[in-house]
Amino acid sequence: MNRLDELRRRHTAAESGGGAERRERQHREGKLSARERVELLLDEGTFEELDKLVQHRARDFGMDQQVVPGDGLVTGFGYISGRLAYVFAQDFTVFGGSLSETNAQKICKVMDLAMKTGAPIIGLNDSGGARIQEGVVSLAGYADIFLRNTVASGVVPQISAIMGPCAGGAVYSPAITDFVFMVADTSYMFVTGPDVIRTVTHEDVTKEALGGSMTHNSVSGVGHFIAKDDAECVQMIRELLSFLPQNNREDAPRALCTDPIDRADAELDSIVPAESNQPYDIKDVIRRVVDDAWFLEVHQHFAQNIVVGFARLDGRPVGIVANQPAFLAGCLDIDSSVKGARFVRFCDAFNIPIVTFEDVPGFLPGTAQEFGGIIRHGAKLLYAYAEATVPKITVITRKAYGGAYCVMGSKHIRTDINLAWPTAEIAVMGAEGAVNIVYRRELASGDPEARRAKVDEFNERFASPFVAAERGYIDDVIEPRETRTRLIRALKMLETKVDTMPKKKHGNIPL
Ligand code: HXC
Repeated sequence: MNRLDELRRRHTAAESGGGAERRERQHREGKLSARERVELLLDEGTFEELDKLVQHRARDFGMDQQVVPGDGLVTGFGYISGRLAYVFAQDFTVFGGSLSETNAQKICKVMDLAMKTGAPIIGLNDSGGARIQEGVVSLAGYADIFLRNTVASGVVPQISAIMGPCAGGAVYSPAITDFVFMVADTSYMFVTGPDVIRTVTHEDVTKEALGGSMTHNSVSGVGHFIAKDDAECVQMIRELLSFLPQNNREDAPRALCTDPIDRADAELDSIVPAESNQPYDIKDVIRRVVDDAWFLEVHQHFAQNIVVGFARLDGRPVGIVANQPAFLAGCLDIDSSVKGARFVRFCDAFNIPIVTFEDVPGFLPGTAQEFGGIIRHGAKLLYAYAEATVPKITVITRKAYGGAYCVMGSKHIRTDINLAWPTAEIAVMGAEGAVNIVYRRELASGDPEARRAKVDEFNERFASPFVAAERGYIDDVIEPRETRTRLIRALKMLETKVDTMPKKKHGNIPL
């Protein structure tokens, strides 16, 4: 056989992976092959494969008889909406997508290129974990990847899609990356599977309940997005990337904006209910303000008392953080603090301005929260906001009470522009609670009239935006309808903002 024929044979073998039968099984299970996923993810015809001829080096357990060029991993680079991106995709048809020494080297190669050239890295995971036949060499490969995940954190966006199994220590690579996508019904992640759990703790749990897409998107918070199938998953990744810069030295790409920048929305004037404890959906506010009502929500099913995601204002990508009065009254608790903090830190690392919509009655009371460490977790959100040096703008729509006022992008933790709607209530606590403490003796007789008078007095004085505005803690009290215009003007003004932290190795965020 001449060299050209040999080359063609090897290419064909790499492309057929574990063979037609295993590929069909993959399709029967509703999954695409690794190559199909990569082709769909990247702009058509742009994929350049690397290391297609790499082979594993294992010789024991009959491995020398089972050699597949590429070794069950498709890696390379291509373009997404014309922008460079690196990708690796595990091929479940070859040794269950398990990670060999050479697999790890291939992944490290594209990660190193991504860091050197400043472009995102996307991992499409579908793997039985460490390749059992290779033992510690495979574990070493995982550790090499974990190191690169950590070094690349905050340098280039790292995205993981879980499109099949992802178990054992293998989960820690996606966990370090910025965003984790999961596919409904076909993906699962866990550190130890149902069998081990049954033996050790006698709990009976299915794979889906333990580590399926909804478990991780709604309960554990490990997953940020759920797709209905592989094709939707890669489309969602493309969409997310449209909001992100290529690396931490660039700004996010500005899109053409056809939504008028001076569009006033009169509905906003009455969106906050007259009764202070009535809920409304903060996502309505967000959609009415941003370009074309387009909001890409992150962590949609997790800690729904805070809403985070990406949108554009006059074409500029922004990260939105908003309390959600329609869920737990918008209280901050452990999960929402952690969710918000991670998002704020991502935006700050990648030069994405943060727009905060605030309506928060405070931190959620109770022993569950205190014992769970709300002090430590709430501090994460505070720390993340305070350290962020990107443009920060806060709009208080209603409540800004207590410590939560300080946390949610207050002026005091160097937010650049703080606006409030006339419905804003900024106070140490709600008027009912306040009079109970301040006038305990005077109101001991239980006279409801006297109590009402004191509550009204408190509301009049404190539950308004004007005291804060008189001190400059609020830059302006605005009509809700003009929120879009005011945000766009503020963002434009802040385009050249430079702010820094003192030189240090790194801070010590309360983990
Ligand atoms: C080598 C593997 C493999 C592995 C699967 N295969 N996992 N080969 N190393 N880790 C092979 C199977 O032998 C089979 O080969 C093919 O992949 C498909 O596997 P099936 O079992 O037939 O598929 P399925 O029924 O869908 O089950 C998938 C699975 C199961 C749940 C992932 O294969 C499984 O439990 N695998 C082992 C998982 C595991 O314990 N991995 C180690 C985790 S610890 P044939 O030739 O029959 O097609 C770990 C440590 C990481 O990963 C450490 C980082 C710090």
